Amino acid sequence: MAENSANNIDNLMHEARRFPPADAFAKAAVATGELYEQGEHPVEFWAAQARELLHWQKPFTPERTLDWSEPPFAKWFDDGELNVAYNCLDRHVLAGNGDRVALHWEGEPGDSRSFTYAELTTEVKKAANLLTALGVKQGDRVAIYLPLIPEAVISMLAVARIGAVHSVVFGGFSAESLRSRIDDASAVLVITADGGYRKGKAFPLKPTVDKALEPNADGEDSTVRNVLVVRRTEGEVDWHAGRDLWWHDEIAQVDTEHVAKAFPAENPLFILYTSGTTGKPKGILHSSGGYLTQVAFTHKAVFDLKPEEDVYWSTADVGWITGHSYVVYGPLANGATEVIYEGTPDTPHAGRWWEIVQKYKVSILYAAPTAIRTFMKLGRQIPKEFDLSSLRLLGSVGEPINPEAWVWYRDVIGGGTIPVVDTWWQTETGAIMISALPGVTTLKPGSAQVPIPGIAIDVVDDRFRSTEADQGGLLVVTHPWPSMARGIWGDPDRFVETYWSKFGPTTYFAGDGARRDKDGDIWLLGRVDDVMNVSGHRLSTAEIESALVSHPMVAEAAVVGAADETTGQAVVAFVITRASQADAAAADDASAVLRAHVAEQIGAIARPREVHIVTELPKTRSGKIMRRLLRDVAEGREIGDTTTLADTMVMSVISNTLK
Ligand code: WT7
Repeated sequence: MAENSANNIDNLMHEARRFPPADAFAKAAVATGELYEQGEHPVEFWAAQARELLHWQKPFTPERTLDWSEPPFAKWFDDGELNVAYNCLDRHVLAGNGDRVALHWEGEPGDSRSFTYAELTTEVKKAANLLTALGVKQGDRVAIYLPLIPEAVISMLAVARIGAVHSVVFGGFSAESLRSRIDDASAVLVITADGGYRKGKAFPLKPTVDKALEPNADGEDSTVRNVLVVRRTEGEVDWHAGRDLWWHDEIAQVDTEHVAKAFPAENPLFILYTSGTTGKPKGILHSSGGYLTQVAFTHKAVFDLKPEEDVYWSTADVGWITGHSYVVYGPLANGATEVIYEGTPDTPHAGRWWEIVQKYKVSILYAAPTAIRTFMKLGRQIPKEFDLSSLRLLGSVGEPINPEAWVWYRDVIGGGTIPVVDTWWQTETGAIMISALPGVTTLKPGSAQVPIPGIAIDVVDDRFRSTEADQGGLLVVTHPWPSMARGIWGDPDRFVETYWSKFGPTTYFAGDGARRDKDGDIWLLGRVDDVMNVSGHRLSTAEIESALVSHPMVAEAAVVGAADETTGQAVVAFVITRASQADAAAADDASAVLRAHVAEQIGAIARPREVHIVTELPKTRSGKIMRRLLRDVAEGREIGDTTTLADTMVMSVISNTLK
């Protein structure tokens, strides 16, 4: 893929449009003038941010700002103590902002609830008491499997408040995916709901939890003691007495007061599973003080947040890292007023997002390129029907945003004047790493642009030499940063091997290709490994292949990501069935069955766009599948160099099957 994206980027980098900072950003939320200079001393810089942005119950000593003595396992602010939830809640109330709205929640059917900081603090205190009553202790893992309802945010903060560790599992994942995450983290509690609303329908969640908690294939029970169930859809649920508890019953019985205890800065905050190059998702581990420092700083500086005036909306689900860093922790640490929305952008009508912007007078919108491209296809007349004049800043995240989508976003949603910041980061980086700052940077559509202050990024070749201007290379981070992952849950070796071995134990290898142009701006070129990016979500080819071969019909499978106009990449699978001669009609059927099977095994997000039944797969003499060639087929390109194939005829056979 790197080769193709390199060609595309040649066109991209001829993009000549430039947008200097607007006057409106002259008085930025963070005094941006000296930030880059200060950021050249990252340790002092981040120490200053940590003191400025957070409340420390026990301050860290300057000498303990960064402990990098056992790379790649960093410790930040490690003799300091704080409470993450207190930083997101109580202190804003104590500062006199208890009446400020923290959350405007909009349900898909059109119901809504708002919480002031005082109210949200009370809800989280009650939930913290409930967790304690259920025996959850510091360090215990709690799985959260909820739709985007206020209880998702409340649960996360309650877990954080008692020093436990949450593992949020996206509500679209299957029972199998949920169980493997519960097992990996040995979760003691699951917080779920009867269901949620999506695309105009109630979808059940509790039955998936029930299925996930059944004894596994080896007859083993899960580690879960209780299931706490929020009532949302009032759908019927099976009940396991002794294990299952209604949230509303239990929460009515607990005290509304709760004193937030201080925990060490390195106390684990959450695990979030993400796809890698193997079939097994990685439990990315984040800790407290450093993580909160960087999400608070970036949320303020990149989005120019003015908490007294702004209404901020990140459209992400809490099941992804954006939902952790820029729905829950960053905005709430900064005392922002934010919007969260349960449903899909086109329910009940194609203007739903813009209706929400109008209703809540959203001023900062943070969304994914895939959504923007979908709106582009629907046409500008839809957003034009709504009053979007409250908007003053637009953000993008999840995948490269092509200049056309960038300019459309600025023109149609932003009225032709509003800056768009393209933010590059990852589940593993915890917070934004590369982005323009709206008051400082001249914007360049299509480029993520510059490392944020305090972050050291390079683009290097295979031998770790910085690349020349306009030359492609690999993106690396060369100095530790506060919100960096602290490991992979239960698998320190995999952490070292995946990210910290290519260029030695102090250089983070992000897995993305990049180029720096003559101005020093960074252009992302996509993944360099076998990881796809579908609608801004990472999916592993190996994980989907293993789901495919788990079907009795399948003998062998290869999955690739093919360019897709809307979703960035789409999943395309090539499958050899066990029946040797699959005729065309049967193949149609088989494709549908296998697409459904993947959705059932992993979740709907992983459902292949196409499943092609083939009789051979292209392999090298050593038996390695040449995905590059399959990608050529999937993207309708002429097939590249086939000389290393064991059987050079294979590709014409595959191409013919597809015709
Ligand atoms: C991968 C990380 C960061 C939250 C959402 C995704 C790609 C992310 C950008 C961007 C180009 C981007 C990268 C990265 N990516 N943002 N602004 N420009 N590519 O988090 O699931 O951890 O995926 O998403 O390939 O490695 P994630």
